[in-house]
Amino acid sequence: MTGRPIIIDTDPGVDDAIAILLALASPELDILGICAVAGNVPLAATRVNARRVCELARRTDIPVFAGCSRPMLRDQIYGKYSGESGLGGTLLPDPSMPEQDGHAVDFLSRTLLSAARGERDKVTVCTLGPLTNLAVALAMRPEIAGGIEAIVAMGGAFRVLGNRSPSAEYNILADPHSARIVFHSGAPITLAPLDMTFQALATPARVDHIRDLGTPVARAAAELITYYDRNDPERYGAIGGPLHDPTVIAWLLETGMFSGRNAWVGVDCEGPLTFGHTVVDWWGKRGAANNAHVLTDVDAERFFGLLTDRLGRL
Ligand code: RIB
Ligand code: CA
Repeated sequence: MTGRPIIIDTDPGVDDAIAILLALASPELDILGICAVAGNVPLAATRVNARRVCELARRTDIPVFAGCSRPMLRDQIYGKYSGESGLGGTLLPDPSMPEQDGHAVDFLSRTLLSAARGERDKVTVCTLGPLTNLAVALAMRPEIAGGIEAIVAMGGAFRVLGNRSPSAEYNILADPHSARIVFHSGAPITLAPLDMTFQALATPARVDHIRDLGTPVARAAAELITYYDRNDPERYGAIGGPLHDPTVIAWLLETGMFSGRNAWVGVDCEGPLTFGHTVVDWWGKRGAANNAHVLTDVDAERFFGLLTDRLGRL
């Protein structure tokens, strides 16, 4: 069985690493390539971390490309919760697998253009970080949107408050101009905002279940996730860290554990108080056509059951 062709665009990043492991453990998915982007940490680290994670899963066959080193227009801001290395306190060895020649944007462009021309199946683009790579590819060749089966993007916040500013989620705030290009590209979008990902809380019991799998990958994953613990039960309802990015992969694997609805989504690029905020027109007040399927809820027990089962296969 050939899997669903996907490209993962990512800023690893602790939760990105877990998402990549989940994808690597899932034969339903055919990972055409991984594109690193600056985000949680500088590109110099994300381009290496992506390969570190592939090697942890013994998948040196996965093509990894380096992408954009800075946002489209705004000043650079980095993440706050993945540590200086981007992989928390987990020391994964320097990769021996090579990075692919060529820029990630060129890889996205040629792959999606080939799909738009009917030369290959359409591709699902899973974005786990700032949307710079995909936005630049779309700006270069808008017609590549025709080669996209779906964009499944972790980003945004609309009813819940931001995690990097009072009203903005990090991936969008880090490059709101790119997010606006992607949201209005015409490609089908499923958005995984904080409103849903905050429910995917890695409580100590859930982390223990992963660690108790006893494999090197499971032990590393549990260590990574433990670093991510916010230890803020007042905000999240329990101790633990929200595993944002793996929900993107889980949606591809078991869509039924999620719920949401179609809505118009826009990005505030003017600010100053709500710069990077994602506006979701839940009641259609603007009269604009819906441009995204916005996920609002996830069955956390099913999510962690899937994640634990799949991590146990690596
Ligand atoms: O706001 C959470 C998002 O920002 C996650 O993708 C995390 O990895 C960071 O990129
Ligand atoms: Ca990320």
